[in-house]
Amino acid sequence: MVELKTPGEIEAMAAAGEVVAQALAAVRAEAVVGVSLHDLDLAAREVLRVAGASSPFLGYQPSFASFPYPGVVCLSVNDAVLHGIPTTYRLREGDLLSADCGATLDGWTGDAAVSFCVGGASAADARLLERTEAALRAGIAAARDGASVGDISAAIGAVARTAGYGLHTDFGGHGVGRSMHEDPHIPNDGRPGRGMRLRAGMTIAIEPWFMAGGRDTYRIDEDGWTLRSGDGSRGAHFEHTVAVTEDEPRVLTRLRQVAV
Ligand code: MF3
Ligand code: CO
Repeated sequence: MVELKTPGEIEAMAAAGEVVAQALAAVRAEAVVGVSLHDLDLAAREVLRVAGASSPFLGYQPSFASFPYPGVVCLSVNDAVLHGIPTTYRLREGDLLSADCGATLDGWTGDAAVSFCVGGASAADARLLERTEAALRAGIAAARDGASVGDISAAIGAVARTAGYGLHTDFGGHGVGRSMHEDPHIPNDGRPGRGMRLRAGMTIAIEPWFMAGGRDTYRIDEDGWTLRSGDGSRGAHFEHTVAVTEDEPRVLTRLRQVAV
């Protein structure tokens, strides 16, 4: 079932989304060589705490996991792409880090992710990051009143295929609002015109994740959480929470500039 949000509810979601954006900005600012993933999780926790937000990730236990999620941010390094756990691993020069964070404020949830390299990015990493973010932009541009979920899926899939990257339709985007995962599921590949019709007032998370090696396979660590590329190649993941409106899609998890 899909609940259409009122303009006031979308404003409330934008406030939650702002907290997510701030938490990811803090993670990015702290992510230098020698800092541990655990330290980055603490930085994100502090942002949520100061904002009065709770974490929809902390303690979350889907059926595939063998224990509840232990952090507020998923931190996936290099061949890990999704659901990496904040361990004592310390970042190294050139690591490709994907950070995925959620926040719940006044009962509304935002969900977003960003990937970047620690220190310098190789040309190959820079291209993977750029194309995965471009796929997010293409998916967002397709999220219009009257379009379909398949239009978003097709837009994302086309970017991966053209670039020669691997992708998989498991763990794609999703409705988001009063809870982190709502209908519809938004696969990262598909056919235009298929699937649920999008309506103004729908709020969705769009989240392409691509694998540089070009193979469409992944594996998951024994704990049931960390998802890695099947061929050991690096992966990237970008996500925004977006509101479908009567005109342009509205990104709810973008960092708002502080007025000066
Ligand atoms: N943003 C991700 C998603 O949409 C991560 C959630 S997994 C969690 O599925 F356990 F960490 F919450
Ligand atoms: Co998500």
